[in-house]
Amino acid sequence: MSPYRIATIDGDGIGPEVCQSAARILSEACGSALLDFVRCDGGAAHYARTGQVLPDDTFALCRDSAAILHGAAGLPGVTYPDGTEVGNDLHLQLRFRLDLYANVRPVRLWQGVKSPLAGWQAGQIDYVIVRENTEGLYASRGGGINLRGEVATDTIVVTRKGVERVARFSFGLSRKRQGAPRDGKRRVTVCDKANILRSYAFFRAVCEEVAREHEDVEIDYAYADAMTVHLVKRPDFYDVIVAENMFGDIISDLGAATIGGMGLSPSAELGEHHGLFQGAHGSAPDIAGQNLASPLATILSGTLMLHWLSERHGDERLAVAARRIETAVGEVLAHGDAVPRDLGGTASCTEVTEAVLRRMARALD
Ligand code: IPM
Ligand code: MN
Repeated sequence: MSPYRIATIDGDGIGPEVCQSAARILSEACGSALLDFVRCDGGAAHYARTGQVLPDDTFALCRDSAAILHGAAGLPGVTYPDGTEVGNDLHLQLRFRLDLYANVRPVRLWQGVKSPLAGWQAGQIDYVIVRENTEGLYASRGGGINLRGEVATDTIVVTRKGVERVARFSFGLSRKRQGAPRDGKRRVTVCDKANILRSYAFFRAVCEEVAREHEDVEIDYAYADAMTVHLVKRPDFYDVIVAENMFGDIISDLGAATIGGMGLSPSAELGEHHGLFQGAHGSAPDIAGQNLASPLATILSGTLMLHWLSERHGDERLAVAARRIETAVGEVLAHGDAVPRDLGGTASCTEVTEAVLRRMARALD
């Protein structure tokens, strides 16, 4: 059986360092017989050299591979004439052209990591934000207007198909989980502003229709402003949160902050036929190329990739490898083997990577 081909886009800033760290961990856990990483170009630096942020051959490789692993994209000052950033277009083009409609962002407090929220312990914060990833306010990117430099508008787009599929994904995800830490209940919380805008009232109404197909999962609601308070005051209440694109983008960073920061924030951007896996952080150009970045978000995104591939292909070997990496990351964090800078330590990207590898090796002894 041929290995699963992984289209690998290092990208910009810290992207190459964290992406190659994750590829090294994944290769160690799976072996070259299982995963074949094929590196390809893309991002802001590539655009600056060639005028293309997502080259045709890279898109074709992403479209035709088993999965996509990505570091980060975007460089300050590399912008389009309309002022929007070029690097972001790498993600956005892949999301829209491959129809990656569910942006899955786990928010988990790991043993050994101190939450900025007083008194919360590992296991008490463990939910997943599912961000609709192909419409909402982002549907207007490149489509909004700037009239005479006097007025600018963007339009939010909410479709029945778009909401149905991301809601079904969210309820299905809750069924696979163990419920909210507070009460063990399987719960999907719809985050919107249905009290103010018809588009969000429609989002909520379609989620309610889908909820009726999942009587075993509780539906819950929170306006986006109230959601920010709840994620600080009662994070243990949440199991799965579903939100429109822009709200999902915002609350997922808040969620990440409550469990130690973006350095521990993986993501899986999933469609019917494709998956893009990357840390939810940015390209951090200020620390690029200095071996300072934490690779953990990208490594954990790699485990999401293995679980996704394992489920799609019925290949348990991949899930075993994912669990082996997760256990090793958990032990590195719990024992403080190598604490990255974003968690208050001084460990380099290489030192964190090698600490995870050592834990993986010890598990085999
Ligand atoms: C994210 C990022 C992206 C977004 C940018 C880089 C396009 O903030 O994935 O959360 O706005 O969705
Ligand atoms: Mn974001």
